[in-house]
Amino acid sequence: MNQKFFVANWKSNKTTTETIQWFESISNFIHSTSSGQEFQISNSTIIICPSFSLLSELKLLIAHYHLPFLLGTQDISPFGEGAYTGEVNSKHIKEFAEYVIVGHSERRKHFGEDEEMVYKKIEQALKNSLTPILCVSDIHQLDHYSLDASKIIIAYEPIFAIGSGNPDTPENANNVACQLKEKAMKASVLYGGSVNSQNVQSFLNTSDIDGVLVGSASLNPHEFATILSYA
Ligand code: PGA
Repeated sequence: MNQKFFVANWKSNKTTTETIQWFESISNFIHSTSSGQEFQISNSTIIICPSFSLLSELKLLIAHYHLPFLLGTQDISPFGEGAYTGEVNSKHIKEFAEYVIVGHSERRKHFGEDEEMVYKKIEQALKNSLTPILCVSDIHQLDHYSLDASKIIIAYEPIFAIGSGNPDTPENANNVACQLKEKAMKASVLYGGSVNSQNVQSFLNTSDIDGVLVGSASLNPHEFATILSYA
């Protein structure tokens, strides 16, 4: 299997206490499976995207439990440093994380983010060598960007599938991934939308899907560890 990405999007969930519990549990699952053998997470990139306020705690917990996890954020300021009250910019993020989700449909819906805003966020991410994970809900959304596709990851997330328990079919998701790759040469393409431990393999077994972006199923450590068992 080629290198696969497993991205956990925690959205606006988890307190510090809940985060500590999640790490205790997932560490147990990963370091001591029932057979007594460690999980083989070979050739996969696992990225956890918590709220900004949890980044520092996650960095410590990942080191403490020796987990092969990288960090990402769920958003980024469209501006650099300066007088932008409330914003978290790419320099702040770079202290903790290597990836940033941009253009998630929940940000487009609840915060009115348009393509221009998303584009600015991508530019800011790239300025500080963060890898943007650009979420699109259809192939045409990519037409708005002229990007160096080798520096970004694209996540195909059909809106009907997000948080609904009703994922796209692996066949259709693979077809879209294939078309996205034709438009954005070299970019890795992930699928997101109601991915869980039951269906993850069907997406990973396709020819053009390079990984998964997991929302609600990543909140439960047992469920997420089971998803990672396909890494
Ligand atoms: P879901 O969310 O897995 O809960 O559907 C995915 C996402 O919004 O990234």
